[in-house]
Amino acid sequence: MKKIAVLTSGGDVPGLNACIRAVVRSALYHGMNVCGVHHGFEGLIQGEFVQMDASSVSNIIHLGGTILKSSRSEQFKTKKGRKKAYRNLKQEKINAVVVIGGDGSLQGARKFTEEYNIPFIGIPKTIDNDISGTDVAIGFDTALNTAMQAIDKIRDTAESHDRVFVVEVMGRDSGYIAYGAGLAGGAEAILVPESKADLTHLEKTLQQGWTREKSSIIIVVAEGDETGGAKEVSELVKRCLPGRYIGICILGHTQRGGSPTSADRILAARLGVAAVKALRDGKKNVMVGMVKGDIAFTPLKKIKRHHLKLNKEVLGLLEELAS
Ligand code: F6P
Repeated sequence: MKKIAVLTSGGDVPGLNACIRAVVRSALYHGMNVCGVHHGFEGLIQGEFVQMDASSVSNIIHLGGTILKSSRSEQFKTKKGRKKAYRNLKQEKINAVVVIGGDGSLQGARKFTEEYNIPFIGIPKTIDNDISGTDVAIGFDTALNTAMQAIDKIRDTAESHDRVFVVEVMGRDSGYIAYGAGLAGGAEAILVPESKADLTHLEKTLQQGWTREKSSIIIVVAEGDETGGAKEVSELVKRCLPGRYIGICILGHTQRGGSPTSADRILAARLGVAAVKALRDGKKNVMVGMVKGDIAFTPLKKIKRHHLKLNKEVLGLLEELAS
Protein backbone atom coordinates (compact mmCIF):
# COMPACT_ATOMS: atom_id res chain seq x y z
CA MET A 1 0.00 0.00 0.00
CA LYS A 2 1.84 3.12 -1.18
CA LYS A 3 -0.54 6.03 -1.29
CA ILE A 4 -3.80 6.46 0.60
CA ALA A 5 -6.42 9.19 0.78
CA VAL A 6 -8.43 10.23 3.82
CA LEU A 7 -11.69 12.16 3.82
CA THR A 8 -14.53 13.19 6.12
CA SER A 9 -18.07 12.86 4.81
CA GLY A 10 -21.54 13.87 6.06
CA GLY A 11 -22.33 16.03 9.09
CA ASP A 12 -19.34 17.19 11.13
CA VAL A 13 -18.80 15.80 14.64
CA PRO A 14 -16.27 16.54 17.38
CA GLY A 15 -13.33 14.14 17.03
CA LEU A 16 -12.95 14.24 13.24
CA ASN A 17 -9.68 16.14 13.47
CA ALA A 18 -8.32 13.75 16.08
CA CYS A 19 -9.15 10.90 13.71
CA ILE A 20 -7.61 12.56 10.65
CA ARG A 21 -4.48 13.11 12.73
CA ALA A 22 -4.38 9.44 13.73
CA VAL A 23 -4.79 8.20 10.15
CA VAL A 24 -2.16 10.60 8.76
CA ARG A 25 0.43 10.04 11.49
CA SER A 26 -0.01 6.26 11.46
CA ALA A 27 0.22 6.05 7.67
CA LEU A 28 3.37 8.20 7.62
CA TYR A 29 4.88 6.14 10.44
CA HIS A 30 4.47 3.05 8.26
CA GLY A 31 6.03 4.70 5.22
CA MET A 32 2.87 5.48 3.27
CA ASN A 33 2.13 8.60 1.31
CA VAL A 34 -1.12 10.29 2.47
CA CYS A 35 -3.30 12.88 0.88
CA GLY A 36 -6.39 14.51 2.29
CA VAL A 37 -9.52 15.09 0.24
CA HIS A 38 -11.45 18.29 0.87
CA HIS A 39 -15.27 18.24 1.10
CA GLY A 40 -15.66 14.45 1.34
CA PHE A 41 -16.95 12.50 -1.66
CA GLU A 42 -17.67 15.77 -3.46
CA GLY A 43 -13.94 16.50 -3.30
CA LEU A 44 -13.16 13.08 -4.82
CA ILE A 45 -15.34 14.10 -7.77
CA GLN A 46 -13.92 17.62 -8.05
CA GLY A 47 -10.32 16.47 -7.51
CA GLU A 48 -9.70 18.38 -4.26
CA PHE A 49 -6.61 16.47 -3.14
CA VAL A 50 -4.05 17.93 -0.73
CA GLN A 51 -0.74 16.38 0.24
CA MET A 52 -0.51 15.71 4.00
CA ASP A 53 2.59 15.53 6.16
CA ALA A 54 3.09 15.21 9.91
CA SER A 55 2.78 18.97 10.44
CA SER A 56 -0.50 19.20 8.46
CA VAL A 57 -2.14 17.60 11.48
CA SER A 58 -0.25 19.41 14.25
CA ASN A 59 -2.32 20.96 17.02
CA ILE A 60 -5.69 19.80 15.75
CA ILE A 61 -6.46 16.98 18.20
CA HIS A 62 -8.60 19.28 20.38
CA LEU A 63 -10.45 21.09 17.62
CA GLY A 64 -14.07 20.57 16.59
CA GLY A 65 -15.10 20.54 12.94
CA THR A 66 -12.86 19.04 10.26
CA ILE A 67 -9.75 20.56 8.70
CA LEU A 68 -10.61 18.56 5.56
CA LYS A 69 -14.13 20.04 5.41
CA SER A 70 -17.14 17.88 4.70
CA SER A 71 -20.25 17.63 2.55
CA ARG A 72 -23.25 15.47 1.77
CA SER A 73 -22.57 14.74 -1.89
CA GLU A 74 -25.57 14.21 -4.15
CA GLN A 75 -23.28 13.56 -7.13
CA PHE A 76 -21.58 10.62 -5.45
CA LYS A 77 -24.99 8.93 -5.31
CA THR A 78 -24.93 8.78 -9.11
CA LYS A 79 -22.93 6.35 -11.29
CA LYS A 80 -21.54 9.31 -13.21
CA GLY A 81 -20.28 10.95 -10.01
CA ARG A 82 -18.63 7.77 -8.79
CA LYS A 83 -16.96 7.27 -12.18
CA LYS A 84 -15.44 10.75 -11.97
CA ALA A 85 -14.23 9.98 -8.45
CA TYR A 86 -12.61 6.73 -9.68
CA ARG A 87 -10.83 8.53 -12.52
CA ASN A 88 -9.44 11.14 -10.12
CA LEU A 89 -8.25 8.48 -7.68
CA LYS A 90 -6.50 6.66 -10.54
CA GLN A 91 -4.94 9.85 -11.78
CA GLU A 92 -3.61 10.62 -8.28
CA LYS A 93 -2.31 7.01 -8.06
CA ILE A 94 -4.21 6.46 -4.82
CA ASN A 95 -4.37 2.79 -3.76
CA ALA A 96 -6.94 3.03 -0.96
CA VAL A 97 -9.33 5.45 0.72
CA VAL A 98 -10.16 5.91 4.41
CA VAL A 99 -13.66 7.36 4.82
CA ILE A 100 -14.59 8.85 8.18
CA GLY A 101 -18.35 8.95 7.85
CA GLY A 102 -21.83 8.07 9.06
CA ASP A 103 -24.27 5.50 7.76
CA GLY A 104 -25.00 7.32 4.48
CA SER A 105 -21.30 7.81 3.72
CA LEU A 106 -20.48 4.19 4.48
CA GLN A 107 -23.28 3.10 2.13
CA GLY A 108 -21.75 5.39 -0.50
CA ALA A 109 -18.34 3.78 0.06
CA ARG A 110 -19.91 0.32 -0.28
CA LYS A 111 -21.55 1.25 -3.59
CA PHE A 112 -18.23 2.54 -4.94
CA THR A 113 -16.37 -0.62 -3.95
CA GLU A 114 -18.99 -2.77 -5.70
CA GLU A 115 -18.18 -0.93 -8.94
CA TYR A 116 -14.45 -0.24 -8.69
CA ASN A 117 -11.45 -2.08 -7.35
CA ILE A 118 -10.04 0.49 -4.94
CA PRO A 119 -10.24 -0.61 -1.29
CA PHE A 120 -12.16 1.59 1.12
CA ILE A 121 -11.92 1.43 4.91
CA GLY A 122 -14.73 3.07 6.90
CA ILE A 123 -14.46 4.73 10.30
CA PRO A 124 -17.83 5.38 12.02
CA LYS A 125 -18.67 8.90 13.15
CA THR A 126 -22.05 10.33 14.01
CA ILE A 127 -23.55 12.11 16.98
CA ASP A 128 -26.67 9.96 16.38
CA ASN A 129 -24.70 6.81 17.30
CA ASP A 130 -26.84 4.73 14.96
CA ILE A 131 -24.27 2.64 13.06
CA SER A 132 -24.05 -1.13 13.46
CA GLY A 133 -20.64 -2.80 13.86
CA THR A 134 -19.51 -0.50 16.65
CA ASP A 135 -20.71 0.14 20.20
CA VAL A 136 -20.06 3.83 19.79
CA ALA A 137 -19.29 6.21 16.94
CA ILE A 138 -16.88 9.16 17.03
CA GLY A 139 -18.66 12.35 18.13
CA PHE A 140 -21.42 10.78 20.18
CA ASP A 141 -19.77 11.17 23.57
CA THR A 142 -19.05 14.87 23.05
CA ALA A 143 -22.55 15.59 21.75
CA LEU A 144 -24.03 13.74 24.70
CA ASN A 145 -21.98 15.79 27.14
CA THR A 146 -22.88 19.03 25.37
CA ALA A 147 -26.57 18.17 25.70
CA MET A 148 -26.16 17.16 29.33
CA GLN A 149 -24.36 20.40 30.20
CA ALA A 150 -27.11 22.39 28.48
CA ILE A 151 -29.75 20.57 30.53
CA ASP A 152 -27.80 21.32 33.72
CA LYS A 153 -27.82 25.02 32.85
CA ILE A 154 -31.49 25.07 31.94
CA ARG A 155 -32.21 23.34 35.25
CA ASP A 156 -30.75 26.36 37.08
CA THR A 157 -33.36 28.66 35.56
CA ALA A 158 -36.13 26.10 35.81
CA GLU A 159 -35.40 25.61 39.50
CA SER A 160 -35.00 29.32 40.29
CA HIS A 161 -38.27 30.28 38.60
CA ASP A 162 -40.37 27.14 39.15
CA ARG A 163 -40.55 26.50 35.43
CA VAL A 164 -41.05 23.57 33.11
CA PHE A 165 -38.69 23.22 30.13
CA VAL A 166 -38.88 21.02 27.08
CA VAL A 167 -35.41 20.47 25.65
CA GLU A 168 -35.10 19.13 22.11
CA VAL A 169 -31.93 17.30 21.17
CA MET A 170 -30.61 16.06 17.82
CA GLY A 171 -30.29 12.48 16.69
CA ARG A 172 -32.42 12.28 13.54
CA ASP A 173 -34.57 9.18 14.20
CA SER A 174 -32.29 7.83 16.89
CA GLY A 175 -32.88 8.40 20.61
CA TYR A 176 -29.34 7.90 21.92
CA ILE A 177 -28.60 11.54 22.76
CA ALA A 178 -32.06 12.12 24.24
CA TYR A 179 -31.93 9.03 26.38
CA GLY A 180 -28.33 9.55 27.57
CA ALA A 181 -28.56 13.29 28.19
CA GLY A 182 -31.97 12.94 29.82
CA LEU A 183 -30.77 10.27 32.20
CA ALA A 184 -27.51 12.09 32.98
CA GLY A 185 -29.33 15.40 33.42
CA GLY A 186 -31.99 13.95 35.73
CA ALA A 187 -34.85 14.72 33.34
CA GLU A 188 -38.38 14.03 34.56
CA ALA A 189 -39.31 12.53 31.18
CA ILE A 190 -37.51 11.44 28.03
CA LEU A 191 -39.25 11.03 24.69
CA VAL A 192 -37.45 8.96 22.08
CA PRO A 193 -38.46 7.66 18.63
CA GLU A 194 -37.81 4.08 19.72
CA SER A 195 -40.75 4.17 22.16
CA LYS A 196 -44.32 4.91 21.13
CA ALA A 197 -45.77 4.45 24.60
CA ASP A 198 -44.01 7.37 26.25
CA LEU A 199 -46.84 9.94 26.05
CA THR A 200 -49.00 8.20 28.63
CA HIS A 201 -45.93 7.98 30.80
CA LEU A 202 -45.28 11.68 30.27
CA GLU A 203 -48.77 12.68 31.39
CA LYS A 204 -48.45 10.52 34.48
CA THR A 205 -45.06 12.02 35.32
CA LEU A 206 -46.36 15.57 34.90
CA GLN A 207 -49.34 14.91 37.14
CA GLN A 208 -47.09 13.34 39.77
CA GLY A 209 -44.68 16.27 39.57
CA TRP A 210 -47.57 18.71 39.91
CA THR A 211 -48.95 16.89 42.96
CA ARG A 212 -45.52 16.76 44.56
CA GLU A 213 -45.10 20.48 43.84
CA LYS A 214 -41.81 19.91 42.03
CA SER A 215 -40.28 23.31 41.40
CA SER A 216 -38.63 22.35 38.12
CA ILE A 217 -39.52 19.83 35.46
CA ILE A 218 -37.36 19.03 32.45
CA ILE A 219 -38.59 16.96 29.55
CA VAL A 220 -36.07 15.87 26.95
CA VAL A 221 -37.40 15.07 23.50
CA ALA A 222 -35.50 13.67 20.54
CA GLU A 223 -35.98 15.66 17.33
CA GLY A 224 -37.20 12.49 15.60
CA ASP A 225 -39.77 11.56 18.24
CA GLU A 226 -43.24 10.84 16.87
CA THR A 227 -44.68 13.76 18.87
CA GLY A 228 -42.91 16.07 16.40
CA GLY A 229 -40.50 17.73 18.84
CA ALA A 230 -40.33 20.38 21.55
CA LYS A 231 -43.09 22.69 20.28
CA GLU A 232 -45.65 19.90 20.07
CA VAL A 233 -44.65 18.48 23.43
CA SER A 234 -44.93 21.90 25.06
CA GLU A 235 -48.56 22.16 23.83
CA LEU A 236 -49.30 18.85 25.46
CA VAL A 237 -47.62 19.93 28.69
CA LYS A 238 -49.66 23.17 28.67
CA ARG A 239 -52.84 21.10 28.66
CA CYS A 240 -51.61 18.96 31.57
CA LEU A 241 -50.23 21.83 33.65
CA PRO A 242 -52.44 24.87 32.94
CA GLY A 243 -51.02 28.17 34.13
CA ARG A 244 -47.45 26.91 34.46
CA TYR A 245 -44.57 28.57 32.51
CA ILE A 246 -43.36 26.16 29.81
CA GLY A 247 -40.07 27.01 28.13
CA ILE A 248 -38.69 25.48 24.95
CA CYS A 249 -35.01 25.03 24.18
CA ILE A 250 -33.86 23.47 20.92
CA LEU A 251 -30.16 22.64 21.20
CA GLY A 252 -29.63 22.08 17.46
CA HIS A 253 -26.15 22.37 16.02
CA THR A 254 -24.52 23.29 19.34
CA GLN A 255 -24.35 19.50 19.71
CA ARG A 256 -22.22 19.09 16.59
CA GLY A 257 -19.42 21.46 17.54
CA GLY A 258 -16.82 22.01 20.21
CA SER A 259 -13.71 20.36 21.51
CA PRO A 260 -13.99 16.55 21.63
CA THR A 261 -14.09 14.78 24.99
CA SER A 262 -11.21 12.51 25.99
CA ALA A 263 -13.40 9.49 25.14
CA ASP A 264 -13.91 10.76 21.59
CA ARG A 265 -10.22 11.60 21.13
CA ILE A 266 -9.16 8.15 22.33
CA LEU A 267 -11.76 6.42 20.14
CA ALA A 268 -10.65 8.53 17.16
CA ALA A 269 -7.00 7.62 17.78
CA ARG A 270 -7.69 3.89 18.10
CA LEU A 271 -9.98 3.67 15.07
CA GLY A 272 -7.69 5.84 12.92
CA VAL A 273 -4.64 3.67 13.64
CA ALA A 274 -6.70 0.48 13.22
CA ALA A 275 -7.90 1.66 9.79
CA VAL A 276 -4.31 2.06 8.60
CA LYS A 277 -3.38 -1.32 10.09
CA ALA A 278 -6.33 -2.88 8.27
CA LEU A 279 -4.90 -1.62 4.98
CA ARG A 280 -1.42 -2.83 5.88
CA ASP A 281 -2.90 -6.26 6.59
CA GLY A 282 -4.57 -6.33 3.19
CA LYS A 283 -8.13 -5.86 4.48
CA LYS A 284 -10.54 -4.11 2.20
CA ASN A 285 -14.04 -2.72 2.19
CA VAL A 286 -14.61 -3.05 5.91
CA MET A 287 -15.57 -0.64 8.66
CA VAL A 288 -13.39 -0.59 11.72
CA GLY A 289 -15.40 -0.29 14.95
CA MET A 290 -15.09 -0.70 18.69
CA VAL A 291 -16.96 -3.64 20.18
CA LYS A 292 -16.71 -4.31 23.94
CA GLY A 293 -13.45 -2.37 24.07
CA ASP A 294 -11.80 -4.18 21.17
CA ILE A 295 -11.25 -3.27 17.54
CA ALA A 296 -13.72 -5.11 15.29
CA PHE A 297 -14.10 -5.24 11.51
CA THR A 298 -17.43 -5.43 9.69
CA PRO A 299 -17.76 -5.70 5.91
CA LEU A 300 -19.20 -2.47 4.48
CA LYS A 301 -22.01 -4.48 2.91
CA LYS A 302 -23.17 -5.58 6.37
CA ILE A 303 -23.30 -2.09 7.88
CA LYS A 304 -26.80 -0.86 8.66
CA ARG A 305 -28.57 1.60 10.94
CA HIS A 306 -29.16 0.45 14.46
CA HIS A 307 -31.30 1.91 17.22
CA LEU A 308 -31.39 2.35 20.94
CA LYS A 309 -32.78 -0.75 22.64
CA LEU A 310 -35.34 0.09 25.28
CA ASN A 311 -35.56 -3.00 27.42
CA LYS A 312 -37.41 -3.43 30.71
CA GLU A 313 -34.38 -2.40 32.76
CA VAL A 314 -34.00 0.90 30.91
CA LEU A 315 -37.70 1.76 31.03
CA GLY A 316 -37.96 0.83 34.70
CA LEU A 317 -34.96 2.99 35.49
CA LEU A 318 -36.56 6.08 33.98
CA GLU A 319 -39.83 5.44 35.78
CA GLU A 320 -38.12 5.04 39.17
CA LEU A 321 -35.73 7.97 38.86
CA ALA A 322 -38.31 10.48 37.66
CA SER A 323 -40.79 9.59 40.38
O1 F6P B 1 -26.77 13.02 11.58
C1 F6P B 1 -26.29 14.06 12.37
C2 F6P B 1 -27.30 15.18 12.47
O2 F6P B 1 -26.77 16.19 13.30
C3 F6P B 1 -28.69 14.76 12.96
O3 F6P B 1 -28.74 14.56 14.35
C4 F6P B 1 -29.52 15.90 12.45
O4 F6P B 1 -30.86 15.49 12.26
C5 F6P B 1 -28.88 16.21 11.13
O5 F6P B 1 -27.56 15.73 11.20
C6 F6P B 1 -28.85 17.68 10.77
O6 F6P B 1 -28.19 17.78 9.57
P1 F6P B 1 -27.61 19.08 8.85
O7 F6P B 1 -27.76 20.23 9.73
O8 F6P B 1 -26.19 18.79 8.58
O9 F6P B 1 -28.36 19.17 7.60
